[in-house]
Parts: sequence; structure tokens; C-alpha cells
Amino acid sequence: MSRPKIVAGNWKMNTNLPEAIQLASAVAGRVNDADGVVKILIPPFPFLTETKKAIEHKATLHLGAQNCSTHDKGAYTGEIAAGMLKSTGCKYVLVGHSERRQYFHETHADFVKKAEQAFAHGLTPIYCIGETLEQRKNGSHYELVKNQVKEVLGAFKPEQIGKFILAYEPVWAIGTGETATSAQAQDMHAHIRMVLAELFDKTTAQQMPVLYGGSCNAQNAPELFACADVDGGLIGGASLKADDFCRIIDSF
Ligand code: PGA
Repeated sequence: MSRPKIVAGNWKMNTNLPEAIQLASAVAGRVNDADGVVKILIPPFPFLTETKKAIEHKATLHLGAQNCSTHDKGAYTGEIAAGMLKSTGCKYVLVGHSERRQYFHETHADFVKKAEQAFAHGLTPIYCIGETLEQRKNGSHYELVKNQVKEVLGAFKPEQIGKFILAYEPVWAIGTGETATSAQAQDMHAHIRMVLAELFDKTTAQQMPVLYGGSCNAQNAPELFACADVDGGLIGGASLKADDFCRIIDSF
């Protein structure tokens, strides 16, 4: 069973409106719908609608959001609901990014609620997992990643589990310029598939897209994407330049 190839660009808290439109338009102008790669742009919330307008003529270029509320709607000042994201044309939403875990103290219980909201509104959650440098050094990374998968995916029914996308992002590689080697990435991605087979079943393990993230760029993407269990990338810094991002897409 072949899995989709996916490259997602997480712009984080970067760009202003004109820059967002320019970046999205430049990517849309370059991408090739015939390459079979699913491409996702993940701009800041205020720029979702304009980004959507800039990319909607491309069949393989989709919109995603960086976060969503645990709540459906109501008096939650400053929050953004999954249903709102859906109404802007979003298809995907990041859940559990390490920056949400680290700086906003979001927990597995939050991620379960966010993924529930995503499913309730027809969005695909891209659930991010990955260990810190300390956890890798003390050897707890395999168990930690297993637990991150279990605590969130374990709360869902089999038909929903099959709709998740996972992104393995070692925290020590995010924004640091230090990438996991292709051997380290392949090793952890294979571990994640083993965990999925153990917790759920072999089909789930074989079919779930697992992306790599963490200082992925146009230079290292070809080697990372060539790994048997790596299905593409979640790109931060290098997604802010259209040319770099498109070269990453071309890396398969
Ligand atoms: P980076 O970020 O590519 O800048 O390391 C990846 C991410 O956090 O998704």
C-alpha cells in the first residue's frame, strides 16, 4: 500500500499580509500539480483567507492551520475554532507541535480535544511528536514517542485513527540547523510504525503518513525523503522562501 507524499510548510509566527500573499503566490506559481505530491501551506490565522485565494487554482496545494481551539464555539476570547478554519478553506490543522507543548503547556488531553474538533469539522490533524535532546541522550526517546502516539491516537476509534498524519520532529532539530541524520530519522519512523502496529494493527502502521520535521531544507531533503518510512516533511524556516520550499517539494 503506497502512502501519499506530503510536504507542509509551517510559517509559524512569520510574515505580514503582503508577505504572506507574495509567498503563497510564488509557491503556487512554481508547484507542479502533476508531481503527485500533496503540498500544504500553513500560514498564521489572519492570512488564511488570502493564502487560500492565492493557491486555490492549484489542485495539489492545500491550506492548513497551526492550531485550533479545544472548544467548538462560544465565549473563549482569542481562540480559533476548527469550524472557523474549515470555513476559510483549511483541510489540515497542526496538533501537538512541540512549541505548543513547550511554550503554551498544552497537554495530551488538549491534543485529544483538538483532534476531536478537527474531525468534527472535517479537518485532518497533523499530530506532531518528538523528543528533546535530553530525552535522546538518556535513551528515553523511543518510549517517549510511543507514549505520545498512545496518549492521543489511543483515544480515537479505528476509523478516525486512520485519518491522522503524524510528524516526527525531534525538538533538538527544530530551528537549530541541526537535522536528524537520515539514519536517525528512518530509525525513529520505523519505530513509530512498529508502535502503530503494536497499538492498533499492521494496516494502520503501513498506511499512516509519517513526516519528518526539524531543520529540513533543500540540501538534506532528498536523503531524508529517500528513507523507506519517511513520507515527506513538515518544514519551518525553509518554507518561508518559495524557492527553498519548492526545491524541497522537488526532492522526492
Ligand atoms: P524548522 O521547523 O524546519 O524551522 O526546524 C520545523 C517545525 O517546527 O515544524
